[in-house]
Amino acid sequence: MPFKHKHLIRIKDLSASDIYTILDSAESFLEISTREVKKVPILRGKTIINLFFEASTRTRSSFELAAKRLSADISNFTKQSSAVIKGETLKDTVLNLEAMKTDAIVIRHAAAGVPYFISTFCSSHIINAGDGAHEHPTQALLDAFTIRQAKKSFTGLKVVLVGDILHSRVARSNIFLFNTLGAHVVCVGPPPILPIEFKQFGVEVEYNLDRALEGADVVMMLRIQLERQQKNLFPSIREYRNLFSLTPKRFRLAKKNAIIMHPGPINRGVEISADLADSVKSVILKQVENGVAVRMAVLYLLLGGKKSEITD
Ligand code: CP
Repeated sequence: MPFKHKHLIRIKDLSASDIYTILDSAESFLEISTREVKKVPILRGKTIINLFFEASTRTRSSFELAAKRLSADISNFTKQSSAVIKGETLKDTVLNLEAMKTDAIVIRHAAAGVPYFISTFCSSHIINAGDGAHEHPTQALLDAFTIRQAKKSFTGLKVVLVGDILHSRVARSNIFLFNTLGAHVVCVGPPPILPIEFKQFGVEVEYNLDRALEGADVVMMLRIQLERQQKNLFPSIREYRNLFSLTPKRFRLAKKNAIIMHPGPINRGVEISADLADSVKSVILKQVENGVAVRMAVLYLLLGGKKSEITD
C-alpha cells in the first residue's frame, strides 16, 4: 500500500493500513543494523535536521543512526548550543535551517502543536519526535513493532498503560495506535494524573494496579513527568511506588507470557523494580533496537527512497 503522507505529526492521522505499511517496511530495515557495514544508499543526497529543543537519548540518537544507515546527511541541533539562547524565535530558527536546503526536519519541543505549526510554513517533511504532552508517534510505532514481534497480532490484546497518563505523549500516541489496531487498552494511575475524561479516548480507566494487571498481555510502564507538572499531584514518590510500582509479585497477575515495556528513561525502583526491568520478561532494550528500524522506515516512506537499493 503506498504511503501518501508528507509529514508524520500524529498517530491520529494514520489509518491501520498506514501503520502496517510502516511496520512491514521496518521489518525489512531491521536486518541492516546487524550487518558488518550498516549502510544502504537509499537516501543518499537527502539532508535531515534533528531539531531538538528538549533532551533526548533514544529518539535523537536513533533518528541520527537511522538517517546515517540510509546514507542521508544529518545535522544535530540542540537548543543549548544554538542562537535560540540569544533570543532567535522558533520560526526564524526553522526558516534559517531550511534555507540550507533540508529535506526533512525531525523536531522535539516542549510545546504541543509545534511540529504542526512549522509544517504550515516549511516545505520540508516534518517528523514529530515528541511535542509536549501531545504525541510521540515514532515511539508508538516502535512499541507496536515490538509488540507484533512478541504477540504476532493486536486483536484482543490487553495492553495496560501505567503511570502519568495525563502528561505522557507516549500514552496518547499509543492509545490512538492501539485503538486503531484493535487492542484493548487499560490506563491505570493515580486520579490526579489519570483524569476520568480519558475514557472518551475509548480506553478503560482503572485506579487499582492489581485489578488492571489481571490477564494483561502487555504492561507498559511510564515515567512520572515531573518536568510537565505545575504542582505536586500526589503526596510522595514513596506512596506512588507503594501503589503503582511494578514489582515481581504484582507482575504475576498478568498472563504468563506477558511482556514489560517502557519508553525510557526508566526510574529503577520507582515505576518499576530493577529486577523486572532487567528480566527476560522485559523488552525495553528491544524497543530501543527496533526504534532504529522503525525510524528508517519512516524516513524512507516520507522521503521516497528506492527500496531496490536495500541490498546494496
Ligand atoms: N522514549 C524517548 O522518547 O526517549 P528519549 O527522551 O531519550 O528520546
